[in-house]
Amino acid sequence: MSADTAESLRKQVRDRYAEAARVAGTGSSASCGSGSCCEGDPSDFGEALYNAEQRSELPDAAALASLGCGNPTSVAELREGEVVLDLGSGGGIDVILSAKRVGQSGTAYGLDMTDEMLALARQNAAEAGVTNVHFLKGVIEQIPLPADSVDVVISNCVINLSVDKPAVLTEMARVLKAGGRLGISDVVAEDDLTPAERAERGSYVGCIAGALSRGEYIAGLEAASFEEVSVEFTHEVADGMHGAIVKAVKTHEPARKQLPVVEPATSCC
Ligand SMILES: C[S@@+](CC[C@H](N)C(=O)[O-])C[C@H]1O[C@@H](n2cnc3c(N)ncnc32)[C@H](O)[C@@H]1O
Repeated sequence: MSADTAESLRKQVRDRYAEAARVAGTGSSASCGSGSCCEGDPSDFGEALYNAEQRSELPDAAALASLGCGNPTSVAELREGEVVLDLGSGGGIDVILSAKRVGQSGTAYGLDMTDEMLALARQNAAEAGVTNVHFLKGVIEQIPLPADSVDVVISNCVINLSVDKPAVLTEMARVLKAGGRLGISDVVAEDDLTPAERAERGSYVGCIAGALSRGEYIAGLEAASFEEVSVEFTHEVADGMHGAIVKAVKTHEPARKQLPVVEPATSCC
C-alpha cells in the first residue's frame, strides 16, 4: 500500500469514528446507523455482546458508545494488579471494565488516535468512577508506551482498521512483558477469501475490507514471537467473515522470523 493510500484510509477511519463519538455524545447509540463499524446485524456488534452484569457496571453512555465486534474483557482473564492496554479504546467501554477487574493496584490504558473518542472515553470513565485509567493519544502502529510494560493487550474490532498490521503485531510484542498475553476481538476472514472478496463484503471503515484471514493472523502473530496462538470464530458478520477471539502469549524467545506483508484491499471505500 502506498503512503498516500495509507494516509487517506487512516483519515477516513478517523473521520468516521469522530462522527460516531459525536453521535454517542448526544446520548444516542454510536453503533449501526451512524456509519461505523457495524454494517450488518446490530446484534453482531456493540453493546449487545456484553452480558447484563457487565452492562450494569457501565454508565449508559459508555455502553451506547460500544462499537466492538466481541467482548475482549471476558476472554482476557484479567487479574488484580495487572497492567492492561486497550488498542483503539473508542468510548472506553473495555478500559472501564478492565479497570474494575485489575483494581486499584492495577492500571488500564486506552490508546486511540481520534480526539473525539478520547474525550468521550474520559467523560465515560469519570462517570463510571474509575481512577486507575489513562487514555493516550496515538496510533496502534506506534504504541506510546515503553517495552515490557504491559501484562495484557486487549482490542475490540480495531486491528482490521490498521493500515500496517505487521507493525501492530510487532508493537504488541514489544510492549508486552515476556509471558504477557493477548485477548483480542476482531473481524477475521476465512482463509479462502482473497482481499478483493473481503472488500466485496463491506467497506474498510466498516471493519470488513481490511480484515486479516485466520491464517494471516496466526502467521503474523507467530512471526512477531507469540505462541499458543488461537483464532476462534464466534459469529458470522458477512459471508465468510466472522467476529473472532484471538488469543496468544508472548514467548520468552526473541523474534526470529520475517513478518509477512499483508496488503488489505482498499477498492471499496
Ligand atoms: C470500531 S471502533 C472500536 C472502539 C472500541 N474498541 C469499542 O469496542 O467500542 C474503532 C476505534 O479504533 C480507533 N482506531 C482505528 N484505527 C486506529 C489506529 N490505527 N490507531 C489508533 N486508534 C485507531 C478509532 O478511532 C475508533 O475509536
